[in-house]
Amino acid sequence: MAAEPLRKRAWYRARVDRTFQLPTCRLRAWRETDLASLVRHADDPRVAATVRDHFPSPYTREDGRRWLAHAAGLGLDTSLAIEVDGAAVGGVGMIAGEDVHRVRAEIGYWLGHAYWGRGIMTDAVRAYSEHLLFERGFLRLEAPVFAINPASARVLEKAGFERESVQRRAAIKAGVLMDVWLFVRLA
Ligand SMILES: CC(C)(COP(=O)(O)OP(=O)(O)OC[C@H]1O[C@@H](n2cnc3c(N)ncnc32)[C@H](O)[C@@H]1OP(=O)(O)O)[C@@H](O)C(=O)NCCC(=O)NCCS
Repeated sequence: MAAEPLRKRAWYRARVDRTFQLPTCRLRAWRETDLASLVRHADDPRVAATVRDHFPSPYTREDGRRWLAHAAGLGLDTSLAIEVDGAAVGGVGMIAGEDVHRVRAEIGYWLGHAYWGRGIMTDAVRAYSEHLLFERGFLRLEAPVFAINPASARVLEKAGFERESVQRRAAIKAGVLMDVWLFVRLA
């Protein structure tokens, strides 16, 4: 019940360009000038291996152009670039639930391999989640993780999520059938 007024507030908050300065990185809107860096870091089978197939692999300049055009049309905090040392080296974003599911959102994220293991995604997921929960007014965030991705599970745990369920044989990637861990964080 308490969510309704918050969601109305979210309507205008979401129109404001959001930037989050964090200890290890900055979250900010994608820009056209991110193309070269985006493609450099996204075109990597190590990144593609643990995300959905709609993340292209190989990741071409045309894929990058298409993504940046798409991101420009989204709500300003629906998808944010992760900037390190002035370059966009990853992304974090969400898909808002609709209709009766409008209280929840699913988040997703990726980071260029050169930057793994520095705590960057933990900072990014924690800050972005808290924005979605405490400023945008979502009551529940979900993050489905392939059971072959313990690093992502650890990121979510550090960012305040709990593993709620195991979805058995719920995804197939590169011909391999996998369980999916559903992580959630509640407001
Ligand atoms: C998963 C990913 C987001 C992690 O980002 P990151 O910035 O390296 O994460 P962090 O450095 O914040 O934290 C990683 C944690 O996982 C741990 N970890 C790394 N590899 C691990 C493994 N094989 N098993 C268990 N834990 C592991 C690290 O030790 C660290 O935990 P700690 O701080 O307790 O030591 C990044 O590897 C990535 O983008 N992968 C490809 C895309 C992807 O999987 N996206 C998520 C889809 S759900």
